[in-house]
Amino acid sequence: MYGLVNKAVVDLVCSKFGQETWNKIKQKAEVDIDLFVSMDAYPDDVTYRLVGAASEVLGLKPEQVLEAFGEYWVLYTAQEGYGPLLSAAGSNLRDFLKNLDALHARVALTMPDLRPPRFRLVDVDAQTMKLEYFSTRQGLAPMVSGLLKGLGIRFSTSIDVAHAREGDHDEFTITMSQATA
Ligand code: HEM
Repeated sequence: MYGLVNKAVVDLVCSKFGQETWNKIKQKAEVDIDLFVSMDAYPDDVTYRLVGAASEVLGLKPEQVLEAFGEYWVLYTAQEGYGPLLSAAGSNLRDFLKNLDALHARVALTMPDLRPPRFRLVDVDAQTMKLEYFSTRQGLAPMVSGLLKGLGIRFSTSIDVAHAREGDHDEFTITMSQATA
Protein backbone atom coordinates (compact mmCIF):
# COMPACT_ATOMS: atom_id res chain seq x y z
CA MET A 1 0.00 0.00 0.00
CA TYR A 2 1.02 3.58 -0.47
CA GLY A 3 3.30 5.03 2.18
CA LEU A 4 0.53 7.38 3.28
CA VAL A 5 -1.12 4.37 4.95
CA ASN A 6 2.04 3.28 6.77
CA LYS A 7 2.72 6.89 7.80
CA ALA A 8 -0.72 7.02 9.36
CA VAL A 9 0.08 3.85 11.35
CA VAL A 10 3.29 5.49 12.63
CA ASP A 11 1.44 8.69 13.48
CA LEU A 12 -1.35 6.90 15.33
CA VAL A 13 1.06 4.82 17.44
CA CYS A 14 3.45 7.69 18.19
CA SER A 15 0.71 10.14 19.14
CA LYS A 16 -1.03 7.65 21.45
CA PHE A 17 1.85 5.59 22.84
CA GLY A 18 5.08 7.45 22.06
CA GLN A 19 8.19 6.91 19.98
CA GLU A 20 9.62 4.13 22.16
CA THR A 21 6.57 1.93 21.63
CA TRP A 22 6.82 2.60 17.91
CA ASN A 23 10.46 1.48 17.91
CA LYS A 24 9.42 -1.80 19.56
CA ILE A 25 6.68 -2.37 17.01
CA LYS A 26 9.00 -1.63 14.10
CA GLN A 27 11.58 -4.02 15.48
CA LYS A 28 9.06 -6.80 16.06
CA ALA A 29 7.67 -6.31 12.55
CA GLU A 30 11.21 -6.44 11.15
CA VAL A 31 10.51 -3.29 9.21
CA ASP A 32 13.68 -1.34 8.72
CA ILE A 33 12.22 1.83 7.25
CA ASP A 34 12.61 5.04 9.23
CA LEU A 35 10.51 7.34 7.09
CA PHE A 36 7.73 6.21 4.79
CA VAL A 37 7.22 8.26 1.64
CA SER A 38 3.50 9.00 1.19
CA MET A 39 3.52 8.71 -2.59
CA ASP A 40 5.68 5.55 -2.82
CA ALA A 41 3.96 2.15 -3.03
CA TYR A 42 5.21 -0.46 -0.50
CA PRO A 43 4.43 -4.19 -0.43
CA ASP A 44 1.17 -4.89 1.48
CA ASP A 45 3.19 -7.23 3.66
CA VAL A 46 4.84 -4.23 5.36
CA THR A 47 1.46 -2.88 6.50
CA TYR A 48 0.23 -6.31 7.64
CA ARG A 49 3.44 -6.91 9.61
CA LEU A 50 3.12 -3.52 11.32
CA VAL A 51 -0.48 -4.27 12.30
CA GLY A 52 0.52 -7.72 13.61
CA ALA A 53 3.42 -6.33 15.63
CA ALA A 54 1.30 -3.44 16.97
CA SER A 55 -1.23 -5.99 18.14
CA GLU A 56 1.43 -7.99 20.02
CA VAL A 57 3.19 -5.01 21.57
CA LEU A 58 -0.01 -3.20 22.60
CA GLY A 59 -1.82 -6.36 23.72
CA LEU A 60 -4.76 -5.71 21.40
CA LYS A 61 -6.37 -8.02 18.86
CA PRO A 62 -5.34 -7.30 15.26
CA GLU A 63 -9.01 -6.44 14.58
CA GLN A 64 -8.90 -3.80 17.31
CA VAL A 65 -5.74 -2.27 15.81
CA LEU A 66 -7.36 -2.18 12.36
CA GLU A 67 -10.52 -0.62 13.73
CA ALA A 68 -8.62 2.09 15.59
CA PHE A 69 -6.60 2.69 12.46
CA GLY A 70 -9.74 3.07 10.32
CA GLU A 71 -11.20 5.62 12.70
CA TYR A 72 -7.92 7.54 12.75
CA TRP A 73 -7.62 7.52 8.93
CA VAL A 74 -10.54 9.96 8.58
CA LEU A 75 -8.74 12.51 10.76
CA TYR A 76 -5.30 11.77 9.37
CA THR A 77 -6.15 12.21 5.68
CA ALA A 78 -7.97 15.48 6.50
CA GLN A 79 -4.81 16.84 8.15
CA GLU A 80 -2.48 15.51 5.43
CA GLY A 81 -3.90 17.71 2.66
CA TYR A 82 -6.90 15.61 1.64
CA GLY A 83 -9.42 17.86 3.44
CA PRO A 84 -10.79 19.38 0.22
CA LEU A 85 -11.18 15.93 -1.35
CA LEU A 86 -13.07 14.70 1.73
CA SER A 87 -15.28 17.81 1.68
CA ALA A 88 -16.02 17.38 -2.03
CA ALA A 89 -17.15 13.78 -1.42
CA GLY A 90 -20.21 14.85 0.55
CA SER A 91 -21.56 16.90 3.42
CA ASN A 92 -23.50 14.10 5.08
CA LEU A 93 -22.80 10.44 5.75
CA ARG A 94 -25.12 8.99 3.10
CA ASP A 95 -23.87 11.21 0.24
CA PHE A 96 -20.30 10.60 1.29
CA LEU A 97 -20.67 6.81 1.34
CA LYS A 98 -22.20 6.92 -2.14
CA ASN A 99 -19.09 8.75 -3.34
CA LEU A 100 -16.38 6.48 -1.89
CA ASP A 101 -15.41 4.98 -5.25
CA ALA A 102 -15.27 8.43 -6.86
CA LEU A 103 -13.06 9.60 -3.97
CA HIS A 104 -10.58 6.76 -4.50
CA ALA A 105 -10.69 7.36 -8.26
CA ARG A 106 -9.54 10.92 -7.57
CA VAL A 107 -6.81 9.63 -5.26
CA ALA A 108 -5.70 7.24 -8.02
CA LEU A 109 -4.98 10.21 -10.30
CA THR A 110 -1.92 10.94 -8.16
CA MET A 111 -1.30 7.34 -7.01
CA PRO A 112 -1.28 5.30 -10.24
CA ASP A 113 -0.56 1.96 -8.51
CA LEU A 114 -3.50 2.35 -6.13
CA ARG A 115 -5.59 -0.81 -5.64
CA PRO A 116 -8.60 0.82 -4.03
CA PRO A 117 -11.52 -0.98 -2.42
CA ARG A 118 -14.96 -0.75 -4.03
CA PHE A 119 -18.18 0.00 -2.22
CA ARG A 120 -21.89 -0.10 -2.96
CA LEU A 121 -24.41 1.65 -0.76
CA VAL A 122 -27.96 0.40 -0.55
CA ASP A 123 -30.63 2.44 1.24
CA VAL A 124 -32.77 0.25 3.47
CA ASP A 125 -34.94 2.87 5.17
CA ALA A 126 -34.59 6.44 6.46
CA GLN A 127 -32.33 5.29 9.30
CA THR A 128 -30.62 2.26 7.83
CA MET A 129 -28.11 1.69 5.03
CA LYS A 130 -26.22 -1.36 3.84
CA LEU A 131 -22.64 -0.91 2.66
CA GLU A 132 -21.08 -3.63 0.52
CA TYR A 133 -17.29 -3.72 0.55
CA PHE A 134 -15.16 -5.40 -2.11
CA SER A 135 -11.38 -5.65 -1.82
CA THR A 136 -8.49 -7.46 -3.44
CA ARG A 137 -7.05 -7.83 0.09
CA GLN A 138 -7.89 -10.09 3.02
CA GLY A 139 -8.82 -9.24 6.56
CA LEU A 140 -9.41 -5.50 6.41
CA ALA A 141 -13.13 -5.48 7.29
CA PRO A 142 -12.46 -4.25 10.86
CA MET A 143 -10.76 -1.23 9.30
CA VAL A 144 -14.02 -0.47 7.47
CA SER A 145 -15.94 -0.60 10.77
CA GLY A 146 -13.46 1.94 12.18
CA LEU A 147 -13.69 4.11 9.08
CA LEU A 148 -17.47 4.21 9.41
CA LYS A 149 -17.18 5.24 13.07
CA GLY A 150 -14.71 7.97 12.10
CA LEU A 151 -17.12 9.20 9.43
CA GLY A 152 -19.99 9.18 11.94
CA ILE A 153 -17.88 11.52 14.10
CA ARG A 154 -16.95 13.67 11.09
CA PHE A 155 -20.62 14.16 10.22
CA SER A 156 -21.86 14.35 13.85
CA THR A 157 -24.15 11.44 13.10
CA SER A 158 -24.50 8.85 15.78
CA ILE A 159 -24.40 5.41 14.18
CA ASP A 160 -24.33 1.76 15.03
CA VAL A 161 -22.23 -0.44 12.72
CA ALA A 162 -22.83 -4.19 12.38
CA HIS A 163 -20.61 -6.46 10.29
CA ALA A 164 -23.47 -8.27 8.60
CA ARG A 165 -21.71 -10.58 6.16
CA GLU A 166 -18.26 -11.98 5.44
CA GLY A 167 -17.12 -13.95 2.43
CA ASP A 168 -16.33 -13.04 -1.16
CA HIS A 169 -17.28 -9.55 -0.05
CA ASP A 170 -18.30 -8.00 3.25
CA GLU A 171 -21.45 -6.15 4.20
CA PHE A 172 -22.08 -3.65 6.95
CA THR A 173 -25.42 -2.48 8.28
CA ILE A 174 -25.30 1.13 9.39
CA THR A 175 -28.10 2.36 11.62
CA MET A 176 -28.36 6.06 12.31
CA SER A 177 -29.93 7.22 15.57
CA GLN A 178 -31.52 10.21 13.87
CA ALA A 179 -31.96 10.88 10.17
CA THR A 180 -29.21 13.14 8.85
CA ALA A 181 -30.10 16.67 7.84
C1 HEM B 1 -9.17 11.53 1.15
C2 HEM B 1 -9.25 10.44 1.90
C3 HEM B 1 -8.69 9.11 1.48
C4 HEM B 1 -7.51 8.82 0.85
C5 HEM B 1 -6.42 9.79 0.43
C6 HEM B 1 -7.47 7.37 0.68
C7 HEM B 1 -6.41 6.67 0.13
C8 HEM B 1 -6.23 5.34 0.24
C9 HEM B 1 -4.99 4.63 -0.02
C10 HEM B 1 -3.69 5.29 -0.48
C11 HEM B 1 -5.20 3.32 0.23
C12 HEM B 1 -4.19 2.17 0.10
C13 HEM B 1 -4.46 1.34 -1.12
C14 HEM B 1 -3.25 1.10 -1.99
O1 HEM B 1 -2.20 1.73 -1.75
O2 HEM B 1 -3.34 0.30 -2.95
C15 HEM B 1 -6.56 3.19 0.67
C16 HEM B 1 -7.14 2.01 1.05
C17 HEM B 1 -8.38 1.88 1.61
N1 HEM B 1 -9.33 2.87 1.73
FE1 HEM B 1 -9.07 4.83 1.27
N2 HEM B 1 -8.62 6.83 1.20
C18 HEM B 1 -9.38 7.85 1.70
C19 HEM B 1 -10.59 7.73 2.33
C20 HEM B 1 -11.22 6.55 2.61
C21 HEM B 1 -12.47 6.46 3.29
C22 HEM B 1 -13.28 7.64 3.88
C23 HEM B 1 -12.80 5.15 3.37
C24 HEM B 1 -14.07 4.68 4.03
C25 HEM B 1 -14.67 3.56 3.84
C26 HEM B 1 -11.70 4.39 2.75
C27 HEM B 1 -11.59 3.02 2.67
C28 HEM B 1 -10.43 2.34 2.36
C29 HEM B 1 -10.18 0.93 2.63
C30 HEM B 1 -11.14 -0.04 3.31
C31 HEM B 1 -8.89 0.64 2.17
C32 HEM B 1 -8.13 -0.70 2.29
C33 HEM B 1 -7.75 -1.27 0.97
C34 HEM B 1 -8.56 -2.49 0.57
O3 HEM B 1 -9.66 -2.72 1.13
O4 HEM B 1 -8.10 -3.23 -0.33
N3 HEM B 1 -10.78 5.30 2.28
N4 HEM B 1 -7.19 4.41 0.65
